[in-house]
Amino acid sequence: MTLLNDTSSVLAFLKHRKSASAKAMAGPGPSASQIAEILDIAVRVPDHGKLAPWRFILFEGDARAQVGEKFADVWAQLNPTHGADSLNFQHGLFMRAPMVLAVISTAAAHGKIPIWEQQMSAAAVCYNVALAATAMGFGVQWQSDWVAYDAGAKAAMGVKSEEQVAGLIYIGQSTVPLEDRPRPDAKSLLTIWGA
Ligand SMILES: Cc1cc2nc3c(=O)[nH]c(=O)nc-3n(C[C@H](O)[C@H](O)[C@H](O)COP(=O)(O)O)c2cc1C
Repeated sequence: MTLLNDTSSVLAFLKHRKSASAKAMAGPGPSASQIAEILDIAVRVPDHGKLAPWRFILFEGDARAQVGEKFADVWAQLNPTHGADSLNFQHGLFMRAPMVLAVISTAAAHGKIPIWEQQMSAAAVCYNVALAATAMGFGVQWQSDWVAYDAGAKAAMGVKSEEQVAGLIYIGQSTVPLEDRPRPDAKSLLTIWGA
């Protein structure tokens, strides 16, 4: 038995889903009720051990510029020869979209559940955010960028050193038509064991 009365529209959505580009996004972003709905959908992922090994940090409004100032400071220390354009880009990193939702993996050593499985669950959370926001009509891009890995930038976002940034999900209105990319040939990736 299926959960759905009409699976065809869901399958069509999944077959045609594609990302937008954070380089071409404008407001408005999701409303408070849409954000709540995106988060509810985000946490409905497979999660071995029911550990919920993830959390979220939302950047919108002035917070995007405020964290951007900290990114630019860290960037300047890492790249002392870079000029104003480079610093301005880092300052404006999160201002490219009306909203950036950071999905944080809080995976930690556990007696039964490998860290890898906890991290994969965080990736599923990222994809559910992307699916939910895309289904609402937003343009979405899952990014990482240097700020996901640099200790200073992570601290600026409020990410603990033992946590990982699974995704920085940019959500807004795409200002350009979405472009698809060539997709892998799924059949060529399949081994039928024993055949
Ligand atoms: C973990 C992860 C990190 C990514 N980081 C970036 C990034 O920093 N910058 C970027 O342009 N694309 C990044 N991408 C790729 C985009 O999310 C996206 O896949 C790409 O724009 C093509 O979109 P589509 O295949 O969903 O249509 C990342 C993807 C994943 C899964």
